[in-house]
Amino acid sequence: MKVLVIGSGGREHALAWKLAQSPAVEEVLVAPGNAGLMHEACVRNAPVAATDIEGLLQLVRREQVALTVVGPEAPLALGVVNAFRTAGLRCFGPTREAAQIESSKAFAKDFLRDHRIPTADYAVFSELAPALAYVRKRGTPIVIKADGLASGKGVVVATSQAEAEAALHNMLGNGSLGEAGARVVVEDFLEGEEVSFMALCDGKHALPLASSQDHKRRDDGDRGPNTGGMGAYSPAPVMTASVEAQVMSRIIRPTLAGLAEAGMPFTGFLYAGLMVSPDGTARVVEFNARLGDPETQPLLLRLDSDLVQLIELALDGRLDEGHVAWDPRPALGVVLAAHGYPAEVRTGDEISGLDFPLPPDVKLFHAGTCLSEDGRIVSCGGRVLTACALGETLSVAREAAYAALSHVRLDGSFCRHDIGFRALHR
Ligand code: AMP
Ligand code: GLY
Repeated sequence: MKVLVIGSGGREHALAWKLAQSPAVEEVLVAPGNAGLMHEACVRNAPVAATDIEGLLQLVRREQVALTVVGPEAPLALGVVNAFRTAGLRCFGPTREAAQIESSKAFAKDFLRDHRIPTADYAVFSELAPALAYVRKRGTPIVIKADGLASGKGVVVATSQAEAEAALHNMLGNGSLGEAGARVVVEDFLEGEEVSFMALCDGKHALPLASSQDHKRRDDGDRGPNTGGMGAYSPAPVMTASVEAQVMSRIIRPTLAGLAEAGMPFTGFLYAGLMVSPDGTARVVEFNARLGDPETQPLLLRLDSDLVQLIELALDGRLDEGHVAWDPRPALGVVLAAHGYPAEVRTGDEISGLDFPLPPDVKLFHAGTCLSEDGRIVSCGGRVLTACALGETLSVAREAAYAALSHVRLDGSFCRHDIGFRALHR
């Protein structure tokens, strides 16, 4: 069969690469894809934007695609799954309604409170004055979050009163994030270690995937601004078997049950960003209605099961029969970011060294790479590549991932040098 992956990032490169390995798959199309996918076996880019739902429907009909997998949040929030279902097409991801768990932080927080799922205490505001009063009463550190989708730029972890007030002035006063910041969630700061936990869901059942940990800040030592993610590894040692059991029973299953009860059953990849406190209690920091990027890249290097089979089971509501097999070795991925990321990014710079031969179990996943008119590979996005490797130990995987990146040349680019530090320093 033919499969379509919607999106163009490192997550989508990894998805396409993994799906193409399934014996059931003849070809994977990626819309719009990136320059790295041109060299993958049985993979083809299709020039349709990820948010052009009508164009995607036409592509799927023209190419007789049997299964579509949605990568990023924007098409989900626009209702791509609703449109495909209405057209009688198989598309893996949540509906627009279920995707609100990510697209509206206020929706997600109210949902968590109503279902008594552990998360930070909070309040929602659309007016500046009461928000300022709340922050003054509550004290710092405190976290200010834009309600809507803001590509990782809508969260300010404020350590001082001045910083908290500036964030509120920006979002509610000056409208700096537009519609996304017209409502804000103000929530208590949670202490602990963050972990990413994803599960395949079929509306009723959840099949957990291996744990992973992201590095959201731009600079070494978790400093600098928040980004979409500068690197990740799997598994995350903080996610012990007992923490996982607690997360399944207190967070994932109640979330699925609550969404189903509300008439918006969740089918797709459910991502819970968790904070595990020093006493081992996990609380929800955020939900995403999709796989994480860059967590997916090392995660899929470790996946031994056939991903197409798992997704088909989910679409048939039979995940209770599913089983996921993992390579026991850890995997780690390092993001190469373009000059200026996560603020104004410079694009159009040539990237060289991409064809350097890599050892087995090492993979360069592309993201912001495009083909220029004269046939060179140039940068065209903030996160350009994720270099990933499996290793007998995490430090072996890390050496191999950084070694793979060392052959790549892109003017002005940078990466973090300490991916995996938490697990390695344990
Ligand atoms: P979010 O987009 O909600 O995941 O927030 C981005 C990042 O801000 C998270 O990955 C955390 O590092 C941090 N963060 C968000 N909410 C909290 C919180 N309540 N307590 C501590 N850190 C937080
Ligand atoms: N890496 C975090 C995310 O995908 O939202």
